[in-house]
Amino acid sequence: MELLCFMVFSICLLFPLSQTSSAADTITASQSLSDGKSLVSSPSGIFELGFFSPGISKSRYLGIWYKNIPVQTVIWVANRQSPINGSTGSLMINTTGHLVLLENNQTVIWSANSSKQANSQSPVLQLLDNGNLVLRDEGDTNSGIYLWQSFDYPSDTLLPGMKLGWDLKTGLNRRVTAWKSPDDPSPGDFIWEMVLHNYPEPVMWKGSNEFLRSGPWNGVLFSGRPPKALPALNFTFVSNEDEVYMIFQMVNESLLGRMIMNQTISFRQQWIWSQAEQNWTLYGSFPRDPCDSYGHCGGNGNCVLGSSPICQCLERFVPASLEKWKLNDFSGGCVRGKPLNCKNDGFAKYHGLKLPDTTHSWINKNMNLDECRAKCLSNCSCSAYTNLDVRGGGSGCAIWFGDLVDIKQIPGGDEDIYIRISASELGGKDEKWKIGVIAASAFAVIVGMLFVGYCYILRFRGKKYLKGEDIEEQKEDDLELPLLDFTTIESATNYFSINNKLGEGGFGPVYKGRLVEGQEIAVKRLSRSSGQGIKEFKNEVILIAKLQHRNLVKLLGCCIQGEEKLLIYEYMPNKSLDYFLFDETRSKLLDWPQRFQIICGIARGLLYLHQDSRLRIIHRDLKPSNVLLDRDMNPKISDFGLAKTFGGDQTEGNTNRVVGTYGYMAPEYATEGQFSVKSDVFSFGILLLEIISGKKSKGFYHLNHRLNLIGNAWRLWKEGRPLELIDKGLGNSCTLSEVLRCIHVSLLCVQQQPEDRPTMSSVVQMLCSESTLPQPKEPGFVPEKGLLDGEFPLINEPSSNGLTITQLEAR
Ligand SMILES: *[C@@H]1O[C@H](CO)[C@@H](O)[C@H](O)[C@H]1NC(C)=O
Ligand SMILES: *[C@@H]1O[C@H](CO)[C@@H](O)[C@H](O)[C@H]1NC(C)=O
Ligand SMILES: *[C@@H]1O[C@H](CO)[C@@H](O)[C@H](O)[C@H]1NC(C)=O
Ligand SMILES: *[C@@H]1O[C@H](CO)[C@@H](O)[C@H](O)[C@H]1NC(C)=O
Ligand SMILES: *[C@@H]1O[C@H](CO)[C@@H](O)[C@H](O)[C@H]1NC(C)=O
Ligand SMILES: *[C@@H]1O[C@H](CO)[C@@H](O)[C@H](O)[C@H]1NC(C)=O
Ligand SMILES: *[C@@H]1O[C@H](CO)[C@@H](O)[C@H](O)[C@H]1NC(C)=O
Ligand SMILES: *[C@@H]1O[C@H](CO)[C@@H](O)[C@H](O)[C@H]1NC(C)=O
Ligand SMILES: *[C@@H]1O[C@H](CO)[C@@H](O)[C@H](O)[C@H]1NC(C)=O
Repeated sequence: MELLCFMVFSICLLFPLSQTSSAADTITASQSLSDGKSLVSSPSGIFELGFFSPGISKSRYLGIWYKNIPVQTVIWVANRQSPINGSTGSLMINTTGHLVLLENNQTVIWSANSSKQANSQSPVLQLLDNGNLVLRDEGDTNSGIYLWQSFDYPSDTLLPGMKLGWDLKTGLNRRVTAWKSPDDPSPGDFIWEMVLHNYPEPVMWKGSNEFLRSGPWNGVLFSGRPPKALPALNFTFVSNEDEVYMIFQMVNESLLGRMIMNQTISFRQQWIWSQAEQNWTLYGSFPRDPCDSYGHCGGNGNCVLGSSPICQCLERFVPASLEKWKLNDFSGGCVRGKPLNCKNDGFAKYHGLKLPDTTHSWINKNMNLDECRAKCLSNCSCSAYTNLDVRGGGSGCAIWFGDLVDIKQIPGGDEDIYIRISASELGGKDEKWKIGVIAASAFAVIVGMLFVGYCYILRFRGKKYLKGEDIEEQKEDDLELPLLDFTTIESATNYFSINNKLGEGGFGPVYKGRLVEGQEIAVKRLSRSSGQGIKEFKNEVILIAKLQHRNLVKLLGCCIQGEEKLLIYEYMPNKSLDYFLFDETRSKLLDWPQRFQIICGIARGLLYLHQDSRLRIIHRDLKPSNVLLDRDMNPKISDFGLAKTFGGDQTEGNTNRVVGTYGYMAPEYATEGQFSVKSDVFSFGILLLEIISGKKSKGFYHLNHRLNLIGNAWRLWKEGRPLELIDKGLGNSCTLSEVLRCIHVSLLCVQQQPEDRPTMSSVVQMLCSESTLPQPKEPGFVPEKGLLDGEFPLINEPSSNGLTITQLEAR
């Protein structure tokens, strides 16, 4: 944020004239574009050319950005490697017709690289509406042939209509290179380019390492992409004698979209401008899952998201090193169980794989599949073949030699590839074998899905823009729980950095995280030693996923990796209720109307749990630290790990496992393990008293009476002085009748006998009506025997959330 402000500030500072500067449409040989004096605008005013300073840098660069977009978004930089430091820059066409960038009107620090320029009598520089800066001959208005164009020299951005790839005639390679940092547009080491293998394919590099492949084009799409991904973008691939390139267009051409290489986080991102939000929306990013990282499973390994382990050897291959494989080190890949005998070999058919690395490949556009197969069989080192183009039933031939690298199971993938296996393994029964392979891979997928349990697909509802190329299509629509990848969470939380830690819940620490898309999340990392086993975990996961209410915290996803169990929630910027309530300074921020709104919200949330949701859910651990507050201080109940589902009309249970927090537990639950919706009502009553008094139930100690919070409330009520209970910090924000009613309701909730306590629906009614309320009976007291010496603690425990009991045998 500070950075942004500084950026805006420095732009204003360094562009004092930008408001008044004249916007020219073209620059001819007699004109120049000087820093601070003028800008060039494209005809419809979509793009603008001028000088700028990126981020906190003071250096000046010549660049192109969107003219009417408030967030300065630079899409091209001329002098990436030669910034202008402290002096004035100007752009001009010199007398020999070259486009040059001058420092101090004399030193050439950048020039457009073209031999064609000198041939022009009257060159003109023009910025087109697609963002292309072109140098053309003045007379040559519409030929589309330019002396020079910026689209031939991309920076970090690929715009619609811009080619990524090669002009084979001139040897021009148009590739996209990330900025080194937001303050430095010079080329980083994160590169995206078309690689001219026999079977060409786009590749992303990190330095000299292959980082990610999109897979080669199969006539319809790049084979590494799920077919339904990125529907807003239309990709085209062209490969002929003159050129090999890809371009993309926006399907809705009135939308502004761009693809960038982002060095900071090592992702390629697709952004679309949202007119409504006046901001860029992340439409997709790459890579998305571990299977995308190049060669994750080594040679002949297939990366199957959701399987365990994530890497599977291709059929009839075995891990090169079983020990390493068991330790999840898949780099060694897989080798053939039996070597090929090279004669009479056969092929196993795979469906929906990302085609392997094409470094060692060969293609022919005219062969059919049978000829392709014969071609592969004729060379002992050929290991796989497929159609080059899948359209119209398939045509052409692509074959691979040697190890098959970087294969991935594509969700919804629809392409077949035939992988060579030795004849002896076939048993002469090709068809049977094919079925076996299909059954085996289907089985592997099913096992994988079972392993992952109830959470499967990465898909955040309500965020339709996140349907990226990397997000799998979800078939099981009833399992609405996204599975997040552990490495995604690791990077989102900065490897569970201590700085990201929000707090320590009953079952483990909670971390703040930020997904690549920018979405903030809270990650509950369940401690391995915690009482919460797989059982509770699944319980919590399924429960919360099904619950949707604005007073319940939303579960966005989960993650299971070995022993690790993580729950991913929406992030609540205002922490929890106890953070405000029990802090002298912060409690003053909560005036009565706000507290009343919180009370009503919690009541509605609890009512939903008890009654309105499809299931009857008893929370069993309602307390201020389990009430989170969103940006607008709306309360959201969290932590359903302890809740228990009941079907039908069953409302009570007896458990040999008491879970909950002393100070909030109903007496019958604490002592006998009896819980019901009424034990939640009891906890709600305590919560109400705490919100009114600003005091902790458990740590409360009254100087003159060794009474706890309930005891004190009851005494004051009986003595006709209930208003003395009110938090002094509330000042005169109180509506006394409302507070009084709340105290009354709270005492009804904490009555000794569960049957005397109101249901949550009556509570909600009572809170919002003027009706007369019944007189409360004596409240239930919860002895804390065996836990703490003495009746009640004499001092407040500093910043403790209360002792959470996870295991206590019922007596
Ligand atoms: C501007 O500064 C950078 C880094 O300090 C330096 O590499 C570059 O040569 C300078 N450019 C000019 C034109 O002096
Ligand atoms: C114009 O600029 C080009 C490229 O820097 C250079 O080769 C050429 O000599 C310049 N012409 C004149 C007249 O300065
Ligand atoms: C730069 O040079 C051009 C011609 O060479 C001249 O017209 C212009 O005034 C100069 N600008 C400055 C700021 O010196
Ligand atoms: C300029 O073009 C020539 C050939 O056309 C090429 O060899 C050279 O690398 C290019 N220079 C830059 C900076 O792109
Ligand atoms: C995608 O682009 C191709 C050519 O560039 C065009 O023929 C096709 O109609 C486009 N498809 C969509 C959905 O826009
Ligand atoms: C294209 O996008 C514009 C701007 O968002 C929208 O108004 C229009 O309805 C869209 N057109 C189609 C066919 O979706
Ligand atoms: C890189 O990604 C981050 C996170 O999505 C984003 O904030 C930043 O603007 C991106 N950088 C560029 C140059 O788009
Ligand atoms: C735009 O979105 C980014 C997150 O992607 C956010 O950080 C930024 O504040 C937003 N800007 C505006 C003006 O809303
Ligand atoms: C098989 O293919 C490889 C790789 O293209 C090639 O080097 C080798 O000469 C071929 N062998 C035969 C017998 O064609």
